[in-house]
Amino acid sequence: MRKLYRNARLQDVDALQDILVEDGKFAGIAPHIETEGAEVIDLAGRLTLPPYVEPHIHLDCVYTGLQDGAANRSMTLFEGIKNWSTVKATVSVGEMKERAKRAIREEMSHGVQFIRTHVDVTNPKQTSLKALLELREELKDLVTIQIVAFPQEGIYSFPNGAALLEEALRMGADCVGAIPHYELAREFGEKSLHKVVELAQKYDKLIDAHCDETDDDQSRFLELLTALTYQAGIGDRTTASHTCSFGSANGAYAFRLMKTLVKAKLSFVSCPTENISLEGRQDSYPKRRGLTRVKELHDAGINVCFAQDSIADPWYPLGNGNLMNILDHGIHICQMMSFAEIDHAFDLITVNSARALHILDQYGIEEGKPANFIVLDADSPFEAIRQRADVLRSVHGGEELFVREPARIETDIPLLRADASSTTDKNYKIITDKA
Ligand code: FE2
Repeated sequence: MRKLYRNARLQDVDALQDILVEDGKFAGIAPHIETEGAEVIDLAGRLTLPPYVEPHIHLDCVYTGLQDGAANRSMTLFEGIKNWSTVKATVSVGEMKERAKRAIREEMSHGVQFIRTHVDVTNPKQTSLKALLELREELKDLVTIQIVAFPQEGIYSFPNGAALLEEALRMGADCVGAIPHYELAREFGEKSLHKVVELAQKYDKLIDAHCDETDDDQSRFLELLTALTYQAGIGDRTTASHTCSFGSANGAYAFRLMKTLVKAKLSFVSCPTENISLEGRQDSYPKRRGLTRVKELHDAGINVCFAQDSIADPWYPLGNGNLMNILDHGIHICQMMSFAEIDHAFDLITVNSARALHILDQYGIEEGKPANFIVLDADSPFEAIRQRADVLRSVHGGEELFVREPARIETDIPLLRADASSTTDKNYKIITDKA
């Protein structure tokens, strides 16, 4: 099967490009391709990107926020964990799979093709892990799912936590997780990170630790995670998720730690909608934003990306898997709002997330790689973000996952007939940072 996509607007490329797809791979990318016998699809100058990547979500918890015992009244992280503990006692593998599938469907319908999900392994029945292992296999031709063995109630604060975590890795989880700031004592938190690094090496797994998801500027587990993984030579196989307390750290401490972060090459995941809601709850005013130093990490050349984290679960009531929404919130909250920053902001939900997932060898619009891409209803990255453009087409392994008609309004008023999302503006210009 051969398809020729004409007039694609690629990021950071001046001229429109034709894209030839053959046997599920990118077979040619050039300003003009002549070929016989291929189905031709005109993209009309629309922005064409590698797929969105969801680097951090909890698919075992989605849509449970309104179940008995789940409603979070304080809207804090800790009440969410307590309420989820009640909910998870009664869920079945089948019920969990149906909820997770609904969330995957929502994410995919917005252009996501790769998902890293945390699954709670502080459960002797391993219900979450079993459900997501089955889905990872059942859906593998449509979406890549990475599973983090996540000790939601602690490695040393939950009975047999360390053994359950190790069991999850033997069962097939892709990454080792942690939650050091939730452990009963700082010493337990430190011990938990030593355990995570030990297990990652023993089973050759990636690391993705929930780390310092608190406003407490004395929660400094990121420092230890960085040091341990750097010394073990696995810094670039490690992701630190949330790291909210780093946003509250004093300047001198942050300056020192930043130097180690650059050397260690960790990836960072920030969850803008989740943490702007959960954090700052113990503050009066001024009230902190609760996010890590996304802009400063990014400007230092450290890999950082944005994630959804939750969909209607005990921690967060909203969420629909649309990473454009997350990106829009993220660049506002983190003040990444110069024209140049906006023009390159898609990296925060595409290639940076792919780097965190360690899938770059298969990711990107390049000849020879799997033909995975999305097409947005806009003619430039800047316009796509300004308009929160929809994903009109998602192609995975050369197959169309979906095609969406652009939103249009009916009107007799001439003023309103001007189409705000028109792709007729050919004044495409790559914005560079003049600052
Ligand atoms: Fe999370």
